[in-house]
Amino acid sequence: MRPDCTHLITGGLGAVGLEAARHLARLGARRLVLVGRSGLPPRSSWPTVTDHSPRSAIDVVTELERLGVTVRALSLHITDARAARVLTDPEALGMPPIRGIVHAAGTFQGQLVPLPQPRSMSVLSGSRCSANRVRSTALASDGSTSQTELCSASLVADR
Ligand SMILES: NC(=O)c1ccc[n+]([C@@H]2O[C@H](COP(=O)([O-])OP(=O)(O)OC[C@H]3O[C@@H](n4cnc5c(N)ncnc54)[C@H](OP(=O)(O)O)[C@@H]3O)[C@@H](O)[C@H]2O)c1
Repeated sequence: MRPDCTHLITGGLGAVGLEAARHLARLGARRLVLVGRSGLPPRSSWPTVTDHSPRSAIDVVTELERLGVTVRALSLHITDARAARVLTDPEALGMPPIRGIVHAAGTFQGQLVPLPQPRSMSVLSGSRCSANRVRSTALASDGSTSQTELCSASLVADR
């Protein structure tokens, strides 16, 4: 990992994203942008946050900062192209240019792939950035939701 550039983790405040953040830091990354829809509560409230999800994120961000990693937690919907423009503007971001991306933003809805409800597919496709990619990977699935999501993640990463 180049310590002089920034790495972006979409879904960086979720379970997979936080593990990815730790992993990148272990590999030498020193500037991380963690993107989620909710973001983090104000820093002044961190000591008293007890809800599981923000607490986990706060604990990992604090741990990374202690290791010397600069962490910026952003609240934005990754499919909102206008809002996501901040990610391509180092000045607005206040960080060096992003040179690596881990795409871990996603939602989980357990159901069989051959019978998706239109609404859940649209949520899935939004978080995976492209409905076409999700549809094509669904065709390659053996029927397991998680396998379809992993396929779609791999497909996005491969392009
Ligand atoms: N955990 C596992 O063992 C596992 C295994 C296989 C596959 N996966 C898949 O990997 C993905 C992440 O899993 P996870 O366990 O880390 O889930 P998670 O804990 O719910 O985290 C998902 C993160 O993605 C963010 N997110 C979702 N949609 C977004 C969007 N459109 N724009 C920006 N941020 C968005 C969420 O933000 P908010 O919370 O603010 O909405 C959350 O921070 C899911 O698709 C899941 O199905 C997970």
